[in-house]
Amino acid sequence: MFIKTLELINYRNYPAIRLAFSSHLILLLGKNGAGKTNLLESVYFIANGKSHKIIPCGDLIKWGSPYSVIRSVMDIEGKENLVEHQIEPGGKIKMRFNKIFLKNRQTVYKKMPVVIFSPDDLRIIKSSPVFRREFLDDILSKLSPDFYNFKLKYQKILAQRNSLLKGMDAGSYNYGRKETMDAWNESLVEKGTRIISERLRLLKILKDNFLKYMGYFFSGISFDIFYVFSWAGTDSAGENGSAEQDNASESGYISDRESGPDDFEKADDGHIYDVFLSNLILKMKKDIITKNTSIGPHRDDIVITLNGKDIRYFGSQGQQRISSICLRLAELEVLKNNIDKKPILLLDDVLSELDIERKSLLLELIGNDFQTFITAANYEYIKDIKLGKCEKYIIENNEFRLL
Ligand SMILES: Nc1ncnc2c1ncn2[C@@H]1O[C@H](COP(=O)(O)OP(=O)(O)OP(=O)(O)O)[C@@H](O)[C@H]1O
Ligand SMILES: [Mg+2]
Repeated sequence: MFIKTLELINYRNYPAIRLAFSSHLILLLGKNGAGKTNLLESVYFIANGKSHKIIPCGDLIKWGSPYSVIRSVMDIEGKENLVEHQIEPGGKIKMRFNKIFLKNRQTVYKKMPVVIFSPDDLRIIKSSPVFRREFLDDILSKLSPDFYNFKLKYQKILAQRNSLLKGMDAGSYNYGRKETMDAWNESLVEKGTRIISERLRLLKILKDNFLKYMGYFFSGISFDIFYVFSWAGTDSAGENGSAEQDNASESGYISDRESGPDDFEKADDGHIYDVFLSNLILKMKKDIITKNTSIGPHRDDIVITLNGKDIRYFGSQGQQRISSICLRLAELEVLKNNIDKKPILLLDDVLSELDIERKSLLLELIGNDFQTFITAANYEYIKDIKLGKCEKYIIENNEFRLL
C-alpha cells in the first residue's frame, strides 16, 4: 500500500497543499516549526481517522478556519482508492471512501496500516500506563475492528458501574443495590476478560520481536517485557489521564516475577475470568469509598525491564528511546504478518537522536520494501547514511519544494 497524492485544506499550518509521492522513500526537510510533523500526522489520520497524538480532532483544523479537509489517493493492492475526511468544529469527522459516506469507518482503517515512529513514543516507555495500554489496543484495533467496538462496550459498562458506585455507600451494597452491582460486575468481567486475553496474546508475539530487536541494538543486556494486572500491585487512583498512577506497576524495582504474567499467558479465559471477578469483589468496599473501579484492564500495565529493573527508572535516555523504537518495529512485524498489505512507515525526527551505527541499523531493519516518510530538521542528521533512491522535499512557508 502507498499514498499517491495528498491534499490538505486548512489542516494545521497548511491553508492548501497538493502533493504527489512515489512509492519509496520520501525525505521531508524543514526548520523547526516548518510543518513536518503535521504532514506525517495527516498521513496517519488518513489511515486511522485520528491523530497519533492524543488530542481532540478539532485541534487539527487550521486556526480560524471553519473546517479541515484531508483528501488522498491511496494505492491499495494495485487499486486506486479516494479517501476523504472532513473535520468539523467540535471534532466531528465525515469520511468518504471512493465517494461513499461511511458510518462504520473501522473496517476501512483496517485496510490501511500505518506505523509511526514519533518522538512522542517516549511516553509509551516513560509516562503513565494509559499510553502503554493504548499502544496494545491500537494494534489490536488494526488487526480486528471488532476489538475497537468491544472496547467501547467495556468502557460503557465501566462508566455505568462507576455511576452506580457514586450513588452507593457501604450499607447500600449489602441492603439494596447488591443485585444490580453483581450484574454490572459480571458484564464488566466478561468483556474485560476478552480484552485481557487479546492483549496477552498480542504481547506474546510482540515480546519475541521486541527482544530480538533490542538484542540487535544492545548486546550483553537482558531485557524483558510483561503484562501487569491491576490486581497484582499496590493501590492508587485514576484510569485515564496524565495525573494517573495506576495500580499495577508503581514500584521501580520489579521483584515479584513468580506471580507475573507468564502463568496467565498459558491460562485460559475461564481462569482470567475467575481471578478478575474474585479481585473485583475483594475490592468492592474500596471501590464504594473511592467511587471508582480499581480492578480491570483499564488499570493494567506493561513493564519493560533491563537486567531485572524497570526501564522507566533505571534505563538511560538512549535505552528508553531505542526501546520505544523497538516496540514500533515489533508492531510493524505484527502488522506485516497479519494484514496482507504493506504498511506505510512514518519516521518523525527519529534519526536525530541516534548515533550513526544505530541510525544505519534502524534503516536496515526497516528495509526498503515500504513507502517511508522520514523527517529531519537538519540535513546533517541524515547525510552520513545511505538512503538509496529517495524524493527530497524542503518545507518552507507552508509550501513544498522538490530538491
Ligand atoms: N491548528 C493549527 N492551526 C495552525 N497552525 C498550527 C495548528 N497546530 C499547530 N500549528 C503550527 O504548525 C507549525 C508546524 O508544526 P510542526 O509540529 O509540524 O513543525 P515541525 O516541522 O515538525 O517542527 P519541529 O522540527 O520543531 O518538530 C507550528 O508552528 C505550530 O504552531
Ligand atoms: Mg516535528
